[in-house]
Amino acid sequence: MSQQGPAFDVNAMTLTRWVLTQQKAAPSATGDLTQLLNSIQTAVKAIQSAVRKAGIAKLHGISGDTNVQGEQVKKLDVLSNELFVNMLKSSFTTCLLVSEENGEVIEVETERQGKYIVCFDPLDGSSNIDCLVSVGSIFAIYKKQSSGAPSVADALRPGHDLVAAGYALYGSATMVVLALGKGKGVNGFMYDPSIGEFILTDPNMRVPEKGNIYSLNEGYAAEWEAGLANYVQEKKHPKTGKAYGARYVGSMVADVHRTIKYGGIFIYPATKSAPNGKLRLLYECNPMAFVVTEAGGIASNGKIPILDIQPTSIHQRAPCYLGSKKDVEELLQHLK
Ligand code: AHG
Ligand code: MN
Ligand code: MN
Repeated sequence: MSQQGPAFDVNAMTLTRWVLTQQKAAPSATGDLTQLLNSIQTAVKAIQSAVRKAGIAKLHGISGDTNVQGEQVKKLDVLSNELFVNMLKSSFTTCLLVSEENGEVIEVETERQGKYIVCFDPLDGSSNIDCLVSVGSIFAIYKKQSSGAPSVADALRPGHDLVAAGYALYGSATMVVLALGKGKGVNGFMYDPSIGEFILTDPNMRVPEKGNIYSLNEGYAAEWEAGLANYVQEKKHPKTGKAYGARYVGSMVADVHRTIKYGGIFIYPATKSAPNGKLRLLYECNPMAFVVTEAGGIASNGKIPILDIQPTSIHQRAPCYLGSKKDVEELLQHLK
């Protein structure tokens, strides 16, 4: 009798397997980074399950709307932060953590310290959580360079020092996008809930050289500098060709992921009242700039590449203009 159903991939390239392959190709690698990325993967799996409301019946009761346990349901951003912190600490590979959710750096207990520093936004797009629009997680990984006990200074490093960076997008499917080392490109892994693994579906992701979408919050147009206003006006009323489309989710991970896949430009600008914009350098701008740059795009703060900025404090902000090479270059001409 012939076999029923679709062919089963018995040799799938999972995220874990792919990272291990990269590790084995680097003779000096100890496996610590592999271990670290595994701990992030675990956090991401748990967050995506919570985002998708798995277990909601247990929490709210099958027939009513009260929590059967009588407990307060933990807010998703708090839960995501605790998952990241706990998984990273227990990987024995990190010494210092910078989270959007914690005012100060988190120093890992001496017995569990390793050589890596991780900056992360555990749940990005929090205003979209309650209306079920896509959210994400963002992470940036450095290797500690100083000797002695870790300190804030160890986390204040420009983005071009990054060992790896990436994000998880909790969209219509869950995806992890990873830039593992300078010059190593970008790879995307889609979550397959049937086996609980991320599968390599988007190898060697490249940002199209030019797109036809602009993405920014137009509600703040009155606050823009003239160059930005002119640029957006030209996208709407081009002298030749078709106008650009406008797309803005309001979750950076979703807006940047679309920009990588379809091309175009994502903007969170400097404004009159917020000259450094809104987005945070260490765990939003830098990791996204690293991924976009590795995928052949450009990421600038309007003056210099985002990856060249020397941070001075862990929660500092930076204006962010990133995406297709030609589109960002054109905007930068306007901003001069
Ligand atoms: P977070 O939820 O981590 O605080 O980040 C939200 C950010 C980012 O995801 C998004 O690009 C931006 O806020 C949207 O801001 P506006 O509402 O000002 O457009
Ligand atoms: Mn964020
Ligand atoms: Mn956040």
